[in-house]
Amino acid sequence: MKRELLSVISCRPLNGTVFELKLAGASAMRAGQFVELSVPGFFLRRPISVADSEADGTLTLLIKTVGEGTKKLRALAPGDTLDALTGLGNGFDLDASSPLLVGGGIGCAPLYKLAKEFAAAGVRPHAVLGFRNAEEMYYVKEFERYCDVTVATDDGSAGVKGNAVTASAGIPHDRFYACGPQVMLRAAAGSLGRGQVSLEARMGCGFGACMGCSIVTTKGYARVCKEGPVFEAAEVVW
Ligand SMILES: Cc1cc2nc3c(=O)[nH]c(=O)nc-3n(C[C@H](O)[C@H](O)[C@H](O)COP(=O)(O)OP(=O)(O)OC[C@H]3O[C@@H](n4cnc5c(N)ncnc54)[C@H](O)[C@@H]3O)c2cc1C
Ligand code: FES
Repeated sequence: MKRELLSVISCRPLNGTVFELKLAGASAMRAGQFVELSVPGFFLRRPISVADSEADGTLTLLIKTVGEGTKKLRALAPGDTLDALTGLGNGFDLDASSPLLVGGGIGCAPLYKLAKEFAAAGVRPHAVLGFRNAEEMYYVKEFERYCDVTVATDDGSAGVKGNAVTASAGIPHDRFYACGPQVMLRAAAGSLGRGQVSLEARMGCGFGACMGCSIVTTKGYARVCKEGPVFEAAEVVW
């Protein structure tokens, strides 16, 4: 973990609620790791997944506006600075030859960096990106650079009708990597075989000190911020 002062390169809307925040000055991070952003006026930092992290220090975050903290982040402008804890969490294991990436809503965000890492290793994943409807889609073109992509929407307004897990049925893979709502991750764990899930939990410190983010696994208690956020799906007690 490092504490770094990042500067805003750009902040642009991707749809009605999701925006892309590009920051300069970050240490390189792995797919599945996250950062904790300090938002002026709020005591607790906001945990956000690494959507991309480049060797030149550019960090890309994909953020959904849900409350006051993310609303303040949405208002950032080029040149503004942001205090961040970087390099948090464990990250995904890239031990698949035929990976299936399964994202639901804002849970697609960390899978973008994972897709790039697989592509750099010479492996083209299949990504199933699930959204509520066509208006809520984002980053599909970006994923298509590195993956075969299937889009699923709950109402059938784009891609196949259904959620990311039902749309994954029949897609050949030797390992899945999922991020999204808990109900989606539980369904993925129950139907897609061997895989890893990236979990969310309300966080206090974000770096292992407060135990506020503990979950139960088959190996005992684990902290989402420290032993996770990525867990073997079979080890999570759902
Ligand atoms: C490991 C991890 C990675 C995440 N990655 C992303 C991402 O890439 N993009 C994205 O848009 N969101 C992500 N989230 C969720 C994001 O942290 C919350 O949406 C955000 O903190 C909400 O802040 P707020 O002030 O707008 O909302 P409020 O509801 O006003 O927040 C109040 C408090 O609750 C906490 N909180 C609210 N929702 C969540 C949540 N879902 N998870 C954890 N804490 C929450 C906030 O941090 C804050 O302390 C991630 C969460 C975790 C744990
Ligand atoms: S948030 Fe403090 S231990 Fe995880």
